[in-house]
Amino acid sequence: MSTAGNDVKRVTTHTLQEMKADGVRIAMLTAYDYSLARLVDAAGIDVILVGDSASNVMAGHETTLPITLDQMIYHASAVVRGCARALIVVDLPFGTYQGNSKGALNSAIRIMKESGAHAVKLEGGREVLGSVERILTAGIPVMGHLGLTPQSIYKFGTYVVRAKEQEEADRLRADAKLLEEAGCFALVLEKIPATLAAEVAASVSIPVIGIGAGNGCDGQVLVLHDMLGINKEFNPRFLRRYADLHGTITDAVANYVRDVRTRDFPNANEQY
Ligand code: KIV
Repeated sequence: MSTAGNDVKRVTTHTLQEMKADGVRIAMLTAYDYSLARLVDAAGIDVILVGDSASNVMAGHETTLPITLDQMIYHASAVVRGCARALIVVDLPFGTYQGNSKGALNSAIRIMKESGAHAVKLEGGREVLGSVERILTAGIPVMGHLGLTPQSIYKFGTYVVRAKEQEEADRLRADAKLLEEAGCFALVLEKIPATLAAEVAASVSIPVIGIGAGNGCDGQVLVLHDMLGINKEFNPRFLRRYADLHGTITDAVANYVRDVRTRDFPNANEQY
């Protein structure tokens, strides 16, 4: 199932639970293809999320809504082939789980069977609880996702910080409890006040992974292409860039074009 070595111990949902208990922070990143997943896995990431952000960063869509289940399975199976250690979680795409728990179970089963991934993630609280419970009946681990849930962008109308007001914060607290009680193994909290995220992380027994949710969570997740600096246009406050691949790749390609034009490439040592 993977090209990497067999002697590496796989991160499991149980490992994440232990990490929370031991106070060890969980590092999670997205990946969507074999080559980058392989690098990310070998560098020691704990969890790889095959996010529906593939719709944005891989396909160039404005939102996460257009990506299909078949496309998610394609990305996930490529990631699975590149990883030996990380727990691989796959987003259930928009329209494959909402309002229909039987459909949700079928979608989750297809992801598990056809990609070889280890868990699924879905967005929402009480409104998707039926789907969460039904998927769990098949023994498929489920990660929840509350706060800014990009599949609901047309309901929110904007990507601003969520749950700043008391009513929405209370609802989020209650939803986190419901997802924990239903049996989710972990929870993503996206773009909410740091104090609220820390409070939720302290109040539930499952690991809470933050993105734009401050330093009080049990772990952090970023979109790989954002943290590698491939995408220059996306500049939210919560994003820390660990590389400038935009500059590196642009320079490399420009140098290649120059060398081809000037016949510098290939030289005598680069031909047969
Ligand atoms: O799709 C995605 O990349 C995500 C993360 C932002 C958590 O859901």
